[in-house]
Order: sequence, then C-alpha cells, then structure tokens
Amino acid sequence: MQPDLTIRPARAADVPLLEALERETYALEGYPSALFYQAIAQWPEFTIVATQPHRVLGYLLAAPGTDNELWIMSLLIDQQARGQGIGALLVKHLINHISQPANQFKHLKLSVSPTNQAAIALYQKMGFSNECQIDNFLGPGEHRLLMRY
Ligand SMILES: CC(C)(COP(=O)(O)OP(=O)(O)OC[C@H]1O[C@@H](n2cnc3c(N)ncnc32)[C@H](O)[C@@H]1OP(=O)(O)O)[C@@H](O)C(=O)NCCC(=O)NCCS
Repeated sequence: MQPDLTIRPARAADVPLLEALERETYALEGYPSALFYQAIAQWPEFTIVATQPHRVLGYLLAAPGTDNELWIMSLLIDQQARGQGIGALLVKHLINHISQPANQFKHLKLSVSPTNQAAIALYQKMGFSNECQIDNFLGPGEHRLLMRY
C-alpha cells in the first residue's frame, strides 16, 4: 500500500489531473473535464479520489440509477499505481457508503468490457456478481457485461 494514501471526495482542483488520467488511458474517448466539474457539484460523495500529496493515484465516479441503484460510471487507477490495492480501496469505500442503514442506495451496478479481465476480477473479488452481457450496450460493437453488488 502507498504511504500517505488518502481517499476523499474530489475537488475542482483535482480535475486537470483526473482528465489527464482519462487521456492517458482512453485518449479521445476519455471523460472530459466538464463532466468532472459537474459530477463534483452534483454527486460530491460519489466522485472520490485516491491521493498522495500533490498526486492523484486514481478515482471512482458513481451516479444514481433507477430505484435504489448506484452505477459505477468509472474506476481508473494511474498505470504506475496499479496492482497495489487502490482500486479495491475505492470500491470498498463505496460499498461502505451503501451499507450504512440510513443510505438510500442498496445496490451497485456497472458495465464492463467482457475482455477486461483485471476489472472483472476486481469486482468479483469485492462481491459483485455477473448479471448478463448486452451486445452494443455502449454503442455499435461496444459489448458490455453488467455486474451487480
Ligand atoms: C481495473 C483497475 C481499476 C484495477 O485497479 P488496481 O488498483 O490495479 O486493482 P487492485 O490492486 O485493487 O486489485 C484488486 C484485485 O483486482 C484483481 N486484479 C487487479 N488487477 C488485475 C490484473 N491485472 N489481472 C488480474 N486480476 C487483477 C485481483 O483480484 C486483485 O486482488 P489481488 O491483488 O489480491 O490479486 C486498473 O487496472 C485500471 O485502472 N484499469 C484501467 C481502467 C479500467 O479498466 N477500469 C475499469 C472499468 S469498468
């Protein structure tokens, strides 16, 4: 585990680093900075970052779906920081949040590429189960496995 690691809600000052993480991994397909500014305003408790001083190591973004579901829209860890338990820590943070009795969300949902073995293994380890695969879920040729906690 990284020293000085903090899990906290994202701030506007983090957005350039979050956008840079997106660009590094997804190039032009990454989420734009405007989405992060909006998410921080709209879902502050579900836009969370793992940081060290002056460095963002990764983030998780979730947003309400229908009924009592919360969708994980993104989980992304800096390439240099992968394999050190940080992705698991961010998901655990969200699980702890929905496990509180007063919380309105009772389930987590997400979609993941069926070829993304690292992410699928992480979610299964955290207690998610596979629901179904939906072809073209995120557009033509973008098949996705739906998972649920
Ligand atoms: C998927 C991702 C978020 C994992 O984050 P991470 O911080 O490296 O994962 P962790 O170190 O917390 O790993 C937790 C568990 O996930 C699984 N896992 C993580 N990386 C894995 C890999 N490359 N291969 C197989 N299993 C892996 C393991 O079960 C691991 O537990 P273990 O270390 O006890 O074996 C990270 O690789 C990433 O950012 N990938 C690019 C973006 C992405 O695919 N996001 C998910 C979109 S839905």
